[in-house]
Amino acid sequence: MADQEMIQEKIGEALGLEKAAQKAVEDLDSRGLLKPEQMKKLSKMREEASQQEEEMQDLVKDLVESDGFDQDTIDEKAEETAEKASKMMETYLGEEPDTQEALEFLCLAEGGEVTHYEVLNSVAKDVKNKKFGTKVRSILKEEKRHLNLCTKLATDNAASA
Ligand SMILES: [Fe+2]
Repeated sequence: MADQEMIQEKIGEALGLEKAAQKAVEDLDSRGLLKPEQMKKLSKMREEASQQEEEMQDLVKDLVESDGFDQDTIDEKAEETAEKASKMMETYLGEEPDTQEALEFLCLAEGGEVTHYEVLNSVAKDVKNKKFGTKVRSILKEEKRHLNLCTKLATDNAASA
């Protein structure tokens, strides 16, 4: 059985990655690394990520009530994870990033999100509040779509270069 401390940390990490993925799209766009036709699809993805973040925040509030989760632990982990992901982006992009690298970083970020929601889904049985599993599975489905979208943008971009 997964303990509550671990589940809280994993929720925080998922939230942090959610924040980081949105910020990455904004940053990469403002640096001119994303083409308008790519950005059209990515802004929709960013909006969905913002919606997911809100839904997760609401879920956390419920879990504080129903399962005695600690809001501060989750918030701290989210903050820390978002910061780590931003640093990873800078390291990955290096000195002179191009569109291909920008898209590949988004694949990394979305891949991380998919994994984290898979992990949350695997521990959902240990959370009393059943809203948790339902929400996690619906977000996981969207995250898989996000990863597919980013992968397609990266492969199309490479093929047209
Ligand atoms: Fe996502």
